[in-house]
Amino acid sequence: MNLAKEIKRRRTFGIVSHPDAGKTTLTEKLLLFGGAIQEAGAVKSNKIKKGATSDFMEIERQRGISVATSVLAFEYEGIKINILDTPGHKDFAEDTFRTLTAVDSVIVVIDVAKGVEEQTEKLVEVCRMRKIPMLIFINKMDREGKDAFELLDEIEQKLNLTVTPLSFPIGMGYDFKGIYNIWEKNINLFSGDSRKNIEETVEVDNLNDDFLEQVIGEKFAEELRENVELVTGVYPKFNQEAYLNAEQQPVFFGSALNNFGVRELLDAFIEIAPPPRPKQSEERLIKPNEKDFTGFVFKIHANMDPRHRDRLAFVKIVSGVFERNTPYLHVRHDKKLKFSSPNAFFAERKEIVDISYPGDIVGLHDTGNFKIGDTLTEGEKIHYKGIPAFSPEHFRYINNADPMKSKQLEKGIDQLMDEGVAQLFTLELNGRKVIGTVGALQYEVIQYRLEHEYGAKCTYDTLSVHKACWIEPKDPKSEEYKEFIRVKQRFLAKDKRGHMVFLADSPFTLQMTQQKYPNVKLHFVSEYK
Ligand code: G4P
Repeated sequence: MNLAKEIKRRRTFGIVSHPDAGKTTLTEKLLLFGGAIQEAGAVKSNKIKKGATSDFMEIERQRGISVATSVLAFEYEGIKINILDTPGHKDFAEDTFRTLTAVDSVIVVIDVAKGVEEQTEKLVEVCRMRKIPMLIFINKMDREGKDAFELLDEIEQKLNLTVTPLSFPIGMGYDFKGIYNIWEKNINLFSGDSRKNIEETVEVDNLNDDFLEQVIGEKFAEELRENVELVTGVYPKFNQEAYLNAEQQPVFFGSALNNFGVRELLDAFIEIAPPPRPKQSEERLIKPNEKDFTGFVFKIHANMDPRHRDRLAFVKIVSGVFERNTPYLHVRHDKKLKFSSPNAFFAERKEIVDISYPGDIVGLHDTGNFKIGDTLTEGEKIHYKGIPAFSPEHFRYINNADPMKSKQLEKGIDQLMDEGVAQLFTLELNGRKVIGTVGALQYEVIQYRLEHEYGAKCTYDTLSVHKACWIEPKDPKSEEYKEFIRVKQRFLAKDKRGHMVFLADSPFTLQMTQQKYPNVKLHFVSEYK
């Protein structure tokens, strides 16, 4: 076993996009290249279709698919690739934010016609803040869309990025001829007729060569020369260091559906994307090549079968080697646990693994020991940082609808919150429980799962809250803070970790409160230090 070698050959990343930009299609094409699947259509779309809001079977089906596609691992050119699934649906945005704590880089997919959309903006902002290296894939070049330069401008402005095109389209939509690969200095011709997996590559060492006219015709040859001149004049040269520091984002063009430009993307990706990176814990920076195993839970998935209450905790390995049947320290519980059947994930199956390396994800069977964010080590007491809770967008009181089942309800709520389905706040004044979610869909998911997995029934009452703010007083003993607590008593609650939260009912209240109590800081993220 050579730890350094195994680390070097791993790439763990996520694909982020607004729904419908082509994330699923691109994932599938990447898997085809890796030989992980044999035919298109094997990876089911994991998006929640419009109108599925009250269709519980649909929700269950989605949960099933989301287990299957949580991690897709395959080998390509000697590189072990782990793709972590990031739901595009905005109601599951929090799930995606948490998964982004476990990736070493991302590929951002943008629809050439729609440009930068809302979810892309939000997700890219998180990646930017975390300094995650990003590659951009502009998809659906076989369709009419925005002008490439216009789109690059839009990406720079809306996403606040510094782009550098590594490929450039020749025509688009009906006139799409192919792509000039600036990275490899060749042209991939698009065979619009067959629209199959065939692409013809022509080496073009010098764009001024007459040969170009023969390949793509006079009009496009002229246009390409001008465009490439503009690209080299306007955009910075690709710099791997800048890309790795999230200061520069290379852009590729293609059509995932037509399998066009995907191999180029993958080839560049394995060459430039980072292997597993060091990760900050509260105590110190942990490097992947440290001998001792450490890892953290970034996702928990409940068993699909309601008769078995066990869950699958997804652990990203940060350092050392994870081995089956070895006792590891669950730092929060200060207790050693052994795992007899850790799962590794492949495109269409999961199987028990004996040994895993940094960058890999293992699925551990759990009967309620884990919470999102938990750290596992060989004994050192470290705590990985960076799985924050964001202020939910929706808030409702939750009521017990079956007094005989209050224990079940409590347990169900507790476990669903550990999974990160929603956030629970308990009002200081009367102990009433408030559920906060990112999307309205979660309320139905919670109600359905409480009933089917825990045998408990709940109802909701409306509650007018604009934002949940985590409170940080400059001086907890100050008169100002005491007054804040007294005046705002009705709007104070504790989150699941016991941290005090202010539930502001409107943007106006929020503003007034901030003005009146300048020494009581209000944060929209639970982890603000
Ligand atoms: P998502 O995971 O990001 O939500 O997107 P997904 O891959 O499901 O793609 C959304 C739609 O866009 C799909 O069509 C897909 O076939 C289409 N698509 C993806 N890549 C390309 C491309 O390069 N060119 C063109 N023209 N279309 C592309 P759909 O009709 O919504 O679904 P389906 O019935 O084809 O699955």
